[in-house]
Amino acid sequence: MRVQTDGTGGLRHLISLDGLTREMLMAILDRAESYRRFPGQPAYEGRELAGVTLANLFFEPSTRTRASFDLASRRLGAHVINLDLQSSSRAKGETMLDTIYTLEAMNTDIFVIRDSEPGLPEFLMDHAAPHVSVISAGEAHVSHPTQGLLDVLTIRSHRRRFAGLKVAIVGDIRHSRVARSTARALKTLGTTDLRLVAPQPLLPEEDEFAGALRFTRVEDGITGADVIMMLRIQKERMAQAALLDDQAYFREYGLDARRVKLASPDVLVMHPGPMNRGVEIASDVADGPHSVIREQVNNGVAVRMAVLACIAATLTRHRKPL
Ligand code: NCD
Repeated sequence: MRVQTDGTGGLRHLISLDGLTREMLMAILDRAESYRRFPGQPAYEGRELAGVTLANLFFEPSTRTRASFDLASRRLGAHVINLDLQSSSRAKGETMLDTIYTLEAMNTDIFVIRDSEPGLPEFLMDHAAPHVSVISAGEAHVSHPTQGLLDVLTIRSHRRRFAGLKVAIVGDIRHSRVARSTARALKTLGTTDLRLVAPQPLLPEEDEFAGALRFTRVEDGITGADVIMMLRIQKERMAQAALLDDQAYFREYGLDARRVKLASPDVLVMHPGPMNRGVEIASDVADGPHSVIREQVNNGVAVRMAVLACIAATLTRHRKPL
């Protein structure tokens, strides 16, 4: 586990939620709530990132996470560079480091990285100058810390407690960085009843998600659940495509209105996006009264603002004087 704080306990990097205490998570969520504005309200505009330059380095496609980091940093007054690196070959290691050093030479302070292979965020963190921060926007199947935070913020704003909550994660958990980060955050905040529901090949290895119950029948896993989190089948992370075709998957695992009735009467239905309507989730459930899917997106901007503001406050302490 990597230490992501500086000597004074301030958040310096965010590549994983491992090692972040309950108090740290709660402080980020509180701050995110203060930044949150609902659609139709004027967005929060602040200067917390004034003079900060942030580079979004995305080696994988992304719509909401990238737009979210972009908006979050601009709304706090940062300068933002968006680099689309998807098409580049996997010339990483030193070459990637040269890109970072080049941007560092242009006074870039914060690097936001998404990559389909594990390891790059940690590698960059190890090589970053003391006044530079690294944030993961999704690392292979390993972690997606800001998604984990926005998921628990969404749950907290409806439930106010994590202990005693029954949470079912349904779908391609094996390949999901979202499931790993959200499960980590839930555990730190006190949720002990976590159910993993998937066809056998899409359940994680036995030594992962310690303490979670595993189900291969969706009905068994979601009965009585307070939260159902649906995941996309990640064909791009599988050697062979899903074992079931889309129709059969929907029949066996898809969340439709009939299945929602098995859960708690006020169940929250979540999905990190992108959704495949009619594959893992029925359209009327995605848009229905239990769905908090768009709230998750809204919370995503607020959580990223909170993380960036915390990191910017830490970086200020490591800046060189003029
Ligand atoms: C997810 C991701 O990219 O990890 N999406 C997201 O960031 N909101 C989930 C996915 O791709 O299925």
